[in-house]
Amino acid sequence: MRDLTPKPSDLDPIETASRDEIAALQLDRLRWSLAHAYENVAHYRRAFDAGGVHPDDLHELSDLAKFPFTVKQDLRDNYPFGMFAVPRDRIVRVHASSGTTGRPTVVGYTARDIDTWATVVARSMRAAGTRPGDVVHVAYGYGLFTGGLGAHYGAEKLGCTVVPVSGGMTPRQVQLIEDFGASTIMVTPSYALSILDEYREQGRDPRESPLTVGIFGAEPWTNAMRQEIEQAFDMHAVDIYGLSEVMGPGVASECVETKDGLHIWEDHFYPEVIDPATGAVLPDGEIGELVFTSLTKEAFPIIRYRTRDLTRLLPGTARSMRRMEKVTGRSDDMIILRGVNVFPTQIEEQLMATKGLGPHFQLELTREGRMDAMTVHVEAAEGPMGSDALTAAADALKRRIKERVGVTVEIAAHGSGGVPRSQGKAVRIVDNRPKG
Ligand code: DLL
Repeated sequence: MRDLTPKPSDLDPIETASRDEIAALQLDRLRWSLAHAYENVAHYRRAFDAGGVHPDDLHELSDLAKFPFTVKQDLRDNYPFGMFAVPRDRIVRVHASSGTTGRPTVVGYTARDIDTWATVVARSMRAAGTRPGDVVHVAYGYGLFTGGLGAHYGAEKLGCTVVPVSGGMTPRQVQLIEDFGASTIMVTPSYALSILDEYREQGRDPRESPLTVGIFGAEPWTNAMRQEIEQAFDMHAVDIYGLSEVMGPGVASECVETKDGLHIWEDHFYPEVIDPATGAVLPDGEIGELVFTSLTKEAFPIIRYRTRDLTRLLPGTARSMRRMEKVTGRSDDMIILRGVNVFPTQIEEQLMATKGLGPHFQLELTREGRMDAMTVHVEAAEGPMGSDALTAAADALKRRIKERVGVTVEIAAHGSGGVPRSQGKAVRIVDNRPKG
């Protein structure tokens, strides 16, 4: 794979600023953001007053811990526009998360917010190895989801030629990548696997594709999956993170030269990691729940938002800004199987290490009597394979999961193509346990 490390002169000065400079900027901006939220959003005024804190109580960055958290329910309670800090006619765009239950959460952007967002996505793309002039194939969904339009504006800002394909119609995805000569693809890692299958289906060698960089996010994926994708396409696979409540994609991103976790664009988003049970702020290096405070957002300031994503903060490497380790999963996606905590990423890791099976999987939960059970649905790898070989591969996976994850699961091994495909975020868990 080509060395795509950006030239230091191409970076924004803040990307290589000293920690002191970053902290000074953050303190200024944090003061502004707290005051802006307090003065313009009834919810924040009530919550700060109830907690006995005022924006003037922030003297240093660590004082942020005195302020109340914001949770998804707060956003739902203020549906649709109650969390906006500017008059509705200054909002140039809204996005919303569908939400599996209840009301969706709605977020809004001023023209300046859209520009800030494009700036951090462009920065993320440059970190990933994309350059002005590149053809960028955007296969994240366009619409209320932030993936498509977020990637799109960032790619334009960087000076790329954007192909706004959105998700779906997989044969056409391959055709357009090939015909337009896309060198960067932006897509969920699970949909990238569907595109990979389609390459093979069409009898094309994915290693001969024009792609050199894949920018993957919106769902957890492992380093083992990174290797699989990098090998298959002969391209760099780089992680991008974000969430609509904080902005969308581009809150944090990996650098192609290190691929050692995601640098948080700390000039716009202030991270904390907390103990999810007590709410106490944890020191850098300890795993807990990621919490974000926006530093520059006008329309939708967000204060101490509990993401439910589990990770830890690490010092900067390729950039001065701190990194977050690849997200292992959301606390919502943690399965407790006979007392053992299991994340889908742990199963993914073992699957990738098992020969003879493809990378697609789904976890089905059932209940037998009083005991929960998990079936891992997998499928045969591409190419001819006898049923004995498939059974042997399934047994090997079952043993690996028992030994390395510590749980006993059933494996349902399907023929190639037997596991449902993703066109966006993969559905990893199917819960067929009786309700109530
Ligand atoms: O998924 C924004 C996004 C779009 C990020 C495209 C990256 C690329 P939401 O739909 O609000 O926004 O979902 C946010 O997705 O809290 C995480 O649980 C998960 N997530 C996002 N990126 C990653 C990642 C977009 N790189 C939720 N690794 C977040 C693991 C991720 N999980």
